[in-house]
Amino acid sequence: MSTTTRRAVIVGAGDIARVHLAALTALGVEVAAVVDPDEQRAVERAATAGAHGSSDLEAVLAAGDIDVVHVCTPHDQHAPVALAALAAGVNVLLEKPLAHTLADAQQIAAAAEAASVKVGVCFQNRYNPTSQAMRAALAGGSLGPILAASATVPWSRTGAYYAAKPWAGQSVRSGGGALINQSIHTIDLVQWLVGPVSEISGRAFQLEAIPGVDVEDTATLVMTHNPAGQPPVRSTMWVTNTNAINAPVTIDVQCENGSLSLRGNLTIAEADGTTTVVSDDRPDSDTPSYWGLSHQALIADFYAQLDRPEPFWIAPVDALPAQQILSQVYQQSGLYTSG
Ligand SMILES: NC(=O)c1ccc[n+]([C@@H]2O[C@H](COP(=O)([O-])OP(=O)(O)OC[C@H]3O[C@@H](n4cnc5c(N)ncnc54)[C@H](O)[C@@H]3O)[C@@H](O)[C@H]2O)c1
Repeated sequence: MSTTTRRAVIVGAGDIARVHLAALTALGVEVAAVVDPDEQRAVERAATAGAHGSSDLEAVLAAGDIDVVHVCTPHDQHAPVALAALAAGVNVLLEKPLAHTLADAQQIAAAAEAASVKVGVCFQNRYNPTSQAMRAALAGGSLGPILAASATVPWSRTGAYYAAKPWAGQSVRSGGGALINQSIHTIDLVQWLVGPVSEISGRAFQLEAIPGVDVEDTATLVMTHNPAGQPPVRSTMWVTNTNAINAPVTIDVQCENGSLSLRGNLTIAEADGTTTVVSDDRPDSDTPSYWGLSHQALIADFYAQLDRPEPFWIAPVDALPAQQILSQVYQQSGLYTSG
């Protein structure tokens, strides 16, 4: 079926819904409805795409004729919305993280495995040209075995951010802060690039007091990865929401015969002196660059895969490792233990 005959519903009419709407408009997908408990917000967001705004997800699902439900809600609402859509037999594209707790994330993964429809997770940074180039360079073999990897996420989330999205500062709704909300993309990329993780040691802290905020703003991790056909390798990571600006994510991978260094652009240095620079520049995008610029690519790919029999390549089961890593850091830090 062609993309232009697909019908989508967006659940959650906040900031990321705007990015999904723009991607769907560019693809020619019809947006049937935008759903939000704040009906006025739903109506206003829907109007930008000529769609219907509603506060009643059950009624929208019961009306039928929907190909994909986009889950763009706060984290604690991911599981109820995704499970309702799956129960209605509709494909689901889920914003990160899978859920605010590991238990809910596992429930979504199990339901997705059992379903006959497709479920995708928005780890859109895997589509960045720099991420694809890192993955290809490591798979190519000429860089040799990986010796070490490290990553940093030096971002800024101020009181104004939490005032606009109170749920993001409330651990019972968000499940956490810098790790689950912001750095989850980088955790995913590092485990995807370097290999599955068998050991994690980490600590998360709240260093900055912001009224109404009880989530961590800083964390540090050491992980042991098991790359296929190579000895185990260690990565280190430091992430914060207390930086004065949203500086670029850095990822460094040292290999026996060269290195990868992501600092905005990616530099691939090989032992013979060859240097290749890869850029993520997408000047036409209006998405904040610190979110990554590949939502459009992921959403287009998800719709293109709908008729194929195999699961989407970033299904809930593929998003679980990042959630398991950060949950373990929370556990080791004694945080959010009720989740
Ligand atoms: N992939 C990325 O890079 C990226 C970037 C930003 C946000 N996100 C994710 O997108 C999701 C939403 O974030 P946001 O920044 O748009 O938040 P937001 O606060 O701007 O918007 C959330 C909206 O969801 C609505 N909502 C709450 N409960 C709902 C329910 N049960 N059903 C329908 N709507 C409901 C709220 O009223 C609000 O309008 C989160 O999971 C967040 O982590 C992902």
